[in-house]
Amino acid sequence: MTTTADELREEVRRRYAESARAVSEGSQGSCGGGSCCVDGESESAKFGEALYDAEQRGGLPEAAALASLGCGNPVMVADLHDGETMLDLGSGGGIDVILSAKRVGESGLAYGLDMTDEMLALARQNAQEAGIRNAIFLKGVIEQIPLPADSIDVVISNCVVNLSTDKPAVLTEIARVLKPGGRIGISDVVAEDQLSAKARADRGSYVGCIAGALSKGEYEAGLEAAGFEHVSVEFTHQVADGMHGAIVKAVKTSEPAQKGLPVIQPTAKAGCC
Ligand SMILES: C[S@@+](CC[C@H](N)C(=O)[O-])C[C@H]1O[C@@H](n2cnc3c(N)ncnc32)[C@H](O)[C@@H]1O
Repeated sequence: MTTTADELREEVRRRYAESARAVSEGSQGSCGGGSCCVDGESESAKFGEALYDAEQRGGLPEAAALASLGCGNPVMVADLHDGETMLDLGSGGGIDVILSAKRVGESGLAYGLDMTDEMLALARQNAQEAGIRNAIFLKGVIEQIPLPADSIDVVISNCVVNLSTDKPAVLTEIARVLKPGGRIGISDVVAEDQLSAKARADRGSYVGCIAGALSKGEYEAGLEAAGFEHVSVEFTHQVADGMHGAIVKAVKTSEPAQKGLPVIQPTAKAGCC
């Protein structure tokens, strides 16, 4: 039986709502360590708070660190400056928004965007506890970003693009909201080019951040089609056979084109963790 895109998105939302509730209640929930991008204890060094250094973790409320579900540390590579406006796609418990808000300072602004109410509530509470006053958390989907065109200096994201059922829409939306010269620093799970969609699905679930991953070539082509230049996709650590945590960087140099990469059909099993 195949799963439709709407069903997959709902499964993703439900699973991350459960994870947010588990962190809020102080339990680990069914995802182990609070993370859904992980299939077991041995994976915990490849995902989540272990990817942040002690200094970054030291300045965070405990719940923000515990709720970290990413596969990288995009704030480290995003090169944020004082006064800039940044946007984190799929901001989860708010860890990267809080760290970014500190980087851009009070003259800057950090937006977080997430579709899951429970995550938004957790992120707002974490930002308040961290004393952050220049962060705004928005409800919405990353395929239709609720912000005006040319309004953002830097878009970051941590292990979320792989969860989207319409990746061309996400890349085109990123290009739309970025100012000319705006840049992206995204952490994501990325497959080696030889892995078919089926081979990716064999290595892990969709909500577990594996089955929906783009390949390196697909990411590069998708970003170029959306109007980006200086595109780079660099593997940082292996998370499954032929699949890696990666840093994706690019600069918006022209207006987004309406073409994109083919939609990867969500044939994957939707099971989690
Ligand atoms: C793997 S977690 C990552 C959270 C956060 N970036 C981090 O590093 O801790 C995925 C998050 O993305 C959100 N998400 C997944 N798909 C989304 C979509 N299409 N639109 C908006 N949010 C989405 C989920 O609700 C969840 O909070």
